[in-house]
Amino acid sequence: MRTTAAIPVARRVSGFTYAIRNIVVEARKVEAAGRKVRYLNIGDPITFGFTTPPHMIEAVTRALRDGDNGYQPSVGILPAREAVAGELTRRGMPVSADRVLITAGTSEGIELALTALAETGDEVLVPSPTYPLYTAVLAKIGARAVYYRTDPGNGWLPDLDDVRRLVTSATRALVVIDPNNPTGATYPTEVRKTLIEIADRHNIPLLADEVYGDLAYDGPVPPMASLYPDAPIISFSSLSKAYLAPGWRTGWMAVGRTERLDDVLAGIKKLADGRLCSNGPMEHGIVAALTGDRSHEPAFRAALRERADVTVSRLNAIEGITTVAPTAAFYAMPRVSLPPGVTDEQYVLALLRETGVLCVYGSGFGTRPEDGFFRVVFLASPQELAEIYDLVAGFTGDFLSRRRQ
Ligand SMILES: Cc1ncc(COP(=O)(O)O)c(C=O)c1O
Repeated sequence: MRTTAAIPVARRVSGFTYAIRNIVVEARKVEAAGRKVRYLNIGDPITFGFTTPPHMIEAVTRALRDGDNGYQPSVGILPAREAVAGELTRRGMPVSADRVLITAGTSEGIELALTALAETGDEVLVPSPTYPLYTAVLAKIGARAVYYRTDPGNGWLPDLDDVRRLVTSATRALVVIDPNNPTGATYPTEVRKTLIEIADRHNIPLLADEVYGDLAYDGPVPPMASLYPDAPIISFSSLSKAYLAPGWRTGWMAVGRTERLDDVLAGIKKLADGRLCSNGPMEHGIVAALTGDRSHEPAFRAALRERADVTVSRLNAIEGITTVAPTAAFYAMPRVSLPPGVTDEQYVLALLRETGVLCVYGSGFGTRPEDGFFRVVFLASPQELAEIYDLVAGFTGDFLSRRRQ
């Protein structure tokens, strides 16, 4: 007997939303209709012509050729863990290799940590706007993301009173993304210290997403844990951004040295056992990246600063758009002043359909739809960016005047 009934999907899937990729479905339709799409939705430097440093490729290729193709320890190969521990220790977060895990990108580290920390119904503080994986994973595990405000009127810095106010007995972690995606902000030392003090006082782990740590235009920022090495901080990073190898899906997490985190570390290791190991040959790329030549980094930072300048000056010249200048990474979060009743998603979809320019609406990162934020990835060449912002300018003028009539 045959049935045609659709096989049901688990309910938790509906809570798992990731606007950065979801919106590509719309872009494909626009492409199918014959219009060129400019993808400013995903932060992948490789797509825009930046290249992985050759010595990293060499290290991974050598591992493949040498037959290093078996399962590895679930926590990662020792040389990679030592390279991470050495790097963080040099930069002020004293940590030993046995508190480091090699993961499939920052993403897997985030998922392992949140899974180890939060029960169903627990709360985790995440910034608004946030990198959406946090809210997606929390939805999946049945925990609650509680947004704390970051303020565009104050360089997108966290509203510290808001953070203090939102800590409850159900809070299991405080997520800090510094330097930040989607805003491109970097936080001053005083702000970082206060965030750590709040986490420390309440004995909640601070999850420090430091994947853009090397991409502040004025030079690398120290890991947050360098400010208070005994605070309960877990640091996350990867080869994806500063080391230009996002497709390798290779990253790490380092659990701060305080004994308060020992059980959490054991829990994370237990979860990591279940997925056997991260991508073995790529782990050799970590050793090459962190102990080898880094001369690509200053050039990459300079390229990003140049693109940030074009982005801010061109977008701020458009009537109805204001943009806070980023100080790191390759993202900006402009705001378009929308007429009442219009959402950020409507603006972004109309921009896509009429010009082929694909950005992500701010509400995909947790801002309010009526606030009119959208995120731009500015990795294209300055010339192409200038063309793109011309399209945005032409479209926005029309869109706002049409909607106001
Ligand atoms: C803030 C932030 N965290 C984590 C990630 C995931 O990075 P990975 O490729 O290391 O998993 C990204 C990717 O864009 C990000 O912007």
